[in-house]
Amino acid sequence: MDTPSWITNWNYMGSRKNPKNMYQKIFIKTFGCQMNEYDSNRIFDSVKKIGFEKIDNCDDADCYLLNTCHIRDKAKEKVYHEIGRVKKIFRFKKKPLVIITGCVAQAENQEMLKREPYIDLIVGPQSYHKINDLITNYFKKKKKIEETNFDPISKFDYLSKIRNDSGKVSSFLTIQEGCDKFCHFCVVPYTRGPECSRPFNQVLDEAKYLVDNGAKEITLLGQNVNAYNNSGYRLSNLILEIEKLSGLERVRYTTSHPKDMTEDLIEVYMFTKKLMPLVHLPVQSGSDKILKLMNRKHSIKEYLETFDRLKKINSNIEFSSDFIIGYPGEQKQDFNDTLDLIKKVKFINSYSFIFSPRPGTIAADLELIDKKISMERLQEVQNLLFENQIAVNKSLENKTLNVLAENLSEDKTQIFGRSEYMTSVIFNGKKSDIGKIVSVKIKRSNRSTLFGEKIDNFNQKVA
Ligand code: SAM
Ligand code: SF4
Ligand code: F3S
Repeated sequence: MDTPSWITNWNYMGSRKNPKNMYQKIFIKTFGCQMNEYDSNRIFDSVKKIGFEKIDNCDDADCYLLNTCHIRDKAKEKVYHEIGRVKKIFRFKKKPLVIITGCVAQAENQEMLKREPYIDLIVGPQSYHKINDLITNYFKKKKKIEETNFDPISKFDYLSKIRNDSGKVSSFLTIQEGCDKFCHFCVVPYTRGPECSRPFNQVLDEAKYLVDNGAKEITLLGQNVNAYNNSGYRLSNLILEIEKLSGLERVRYTTSHPKDMTEDLIEVYMFTKKLMPLVHLPVQSGSDKILKLMNRKHSIKEYLETFDRLKKINSNIEFSSDFIIGYPGEQKQDFNDTLDLIKKVKFINSYSFIFSPRPGTIAADLELIDKKISMERLQEVQNLLFENQIAVNKSLENKTLNVLAENLSEDKTQIFGRSEYMTSVIFNGKKSDIGKIVSVKIKRSNRSTLFGEKIDNFNQKVA
């Protein structure tokens, strides 16, 4: 591949103006969690400085970037499958620059370059601050590179120097990376590295920039967001500071570990004006025995204490969670404990997965329980979770909710927004409602979505 003129004409931070016809097209496909979504947006904020524009149709791409997730099943194979698809698309066209980022890139690193020569660059999640240099150097030296060092401080510094141009009504903001918990089933400590919190002022600056550019809701992100600690500033301090931003309507945070639901964070719910009343608190299992085997470092009693304390502060607070079903050693009684916990807490929304052995983790070599039993248990757990979700949504029919209007609906005929509890709401608003909190009377519902009509001059506070 020759060095394209757009690379020779551009410098590192993109301060030279690029003639319009020299833009290169990047297609970014993202798998995995919200942190990957945030990263994909920030990668684009970065590469546009060296002349890239984003496209939605991969067929026209000059650069194909796959931001990968390693959390479950066949993650690696999915990536090779995807590359196979790209190869086919470009069989009779100029090969795009192919970059693999994310958690599979981190876990597989050099192996990927060896196995699939179609890949040009491998960049791990803590090295995105180097991506402009890596692309530029690739074109200059034609050398395939794998860059997977853990350097979150430099990454955070770099991110603070380039603007977050997400421009979304509801924006993500990563405040913490990595994990020190080492749950026995999980790859995250290996793919994202040790816990590292972003400097308090950097987070505030980015939040302010997002709000100045139209964000009405900010979701603070971290693999263990409530472990945030920067020179003694905790997540609770960040929430109370960020919610002072005028123009910002809603604050959320995800994903929390039950062990880090500290008193100060719980007490924030007494004072907050903008923190939404949905707490996503993954529990994984209702059985103390399984929690211990998983190395989760808390008991169900402690989980329920947090639940009770939050409910006492504000009875409108609701919970959502993640569950792993069929963890090695899970017996019928352990599974029943999970069902009991779900009945007690009445989670309003949850994710549940069958345990997937991940290479390199402690649980990888444990004896699996029968697949048929796992499948049956997953079905049972989901039936119970869905039953509650359907009942909650049904109970909202004929009620009026505050909805943050985010976008046009998929078919572009209505407005898509979210309730305070993150439930999708489709209603008959106007385009000019986007970015506003509007009152919507719910007319009907299904498990995941509420459908309603906008009503004027109504101001109900749910939380
Ligand atoms: N840090 C969060 C916590 O402590 O709960 C979880 C983050 S993880 C990216 C998201 C979810 O993936 C977990 O809550 C867990 O339910 C699920 N997960 C992680 N590893 C898994 C595995 N090996 N098999 C099945 N599910 C898994
Ligand atoms: Fe994975 Fe969360 Fe456990 Fe960390 S705390 S190892 S991210 S499940
Ligand atoms: Fe997946 Fe990595 Fe997120 S493994 S869930 S993309 S932290």
